[in-house]
Amino acid sequence: MQRILVTGGAGFLGASFVRHLMAETDAVVTVLDALTYAASPEALAGLPPERVSLVVGDVADPATVDPLVAAADAVVHYAAESHNDNALDDPRPFLDSNVVGTFTLLEAIRRHDTRLHHVSTDEVYGDLPLEGTERFTPSSPYRPSSPYSATKAASDLLVRAWVRSYGVRATISNCSNSYGPYQHVEKLIPRQITNVLCGERPRVYGSGAHVRDWIHADDHSSAVRAILERGRVGETYLIGADGERSNRAVVEAILELMGQPRDAYDHVPDRPGHDLRYAIDATRLRTELGWAPRHTSFEDGLAETIRWYRDHEGWWRDAKLAAEERYARQGR
Ligand code: NAD
Ligand code: TYD
Repeated sequence: MQRILVTGGAGFLGASFVRHLMAETDAVVTVLDALTYAASPEALAGLPPERVSLVVGDVADPATVDPLVAAADAVVHYAAESHNDNALDDPRPFLDSNVVGTFTLLEAIRRHDTRLHHVSTDEVYGDLPLEGTERFTPSSPYRPSSPYSATKAASDLLVRAWVRSYGVRATISNCSNSYGPYQHVEKLIPRQITNVLCGERPRVYGSGAHVRDWIHADDHSSAVRAILERGRVGETYLIGADGERSNRAVVEAILELMGQPRDAYDHVPDRPGHDLRYAIDATRLRTELGWAPRHTSFEDGLAETIRWYRDHEGWWRDAKLAAEERYARQGR
């Protein structure tokens, strides 16, 4: 039985990972989460209270973090500000949570010699040309282009430095765009699904030719567990499920699955600095750790996600109003 500290465990992916641990292991989990606007403690509801507890606090606060790390066998670090459009508006919280937060955690990890898995994004590698078949690999150069990805890159580099300089036992994963239940409605897929549910048209930034490599949250979680359990300390693993789609194709698929004409969407002004294409080569994860995704059909995963948002309007309604107010101010 392992005691695992999951930072950001009330967010979209952290909570998915906690649910995965409850279903697949006998781990006992402490969630450390600041409960920002992005958190959804509802995603932890119904889990066994003797196995999951929530501590509300900031990962950048050493006095909160130190005793929690001391009491854990392993830490999985999800806590972060995660949305590019928000970072463009106000980068400061991204520096505080993503950079200072990871630094604070690393110092506690170093003091207590605790195993760490750091959850990061493929966006640290910048973008790829729209045309072409090149994909990110663990040796791709760091080339972040947005305030969000720059802070995630900084956090990855801190982890790498703490491994090399202090012998910290850490692994890193860089995953592609994830989707599934409980994702905040500011993100592409839930924003467009809930737009249609509200009788609004989906909104595509710029031409919509931009490409993202989609993976279901359940598969992201199973990959993180494989790396935590069997990954080589000091290594980076890329997580992806061969799900490349243009944003236009994603929105057209949503419209079709929701019984709307495929062209019933609007183009809105592009996001400044908008990365063109992400694509993941997950060979190391698949061959070394024997991992494979369970959701192999993006369209089936999308249909299931649409059903979930249809059935959980009470969960997203208030957040939708707040997110659309922010987007209205940004003109997107
Ligand atoms: P999210 O925004 O849904 O959740 C983030 C959680 O972290 C929230 O519960 C929030 O309250 C918490 N948090 C934020 N700042 C905190 C702080 N200072 N102290 C404690 N808790 C804090 O994000 P997500 O989509 O679940 O992403 C989680 C992690 O996965 C992030 O590190 C992100 O960079 C990474 N990631 C996300 C994706 C994706 O597609 N969503 C893909 C690859 C990697
Ligand atoms: P997003 O979900 O914000 O993830 P990321 O910026 O981390 O890739 O956006 C995914 C893609 O969808 C990205 O290319 C921006 C685009 N997008 C839209 O076209 N319309 C939208 O309303 C949103 C939120 C995103």
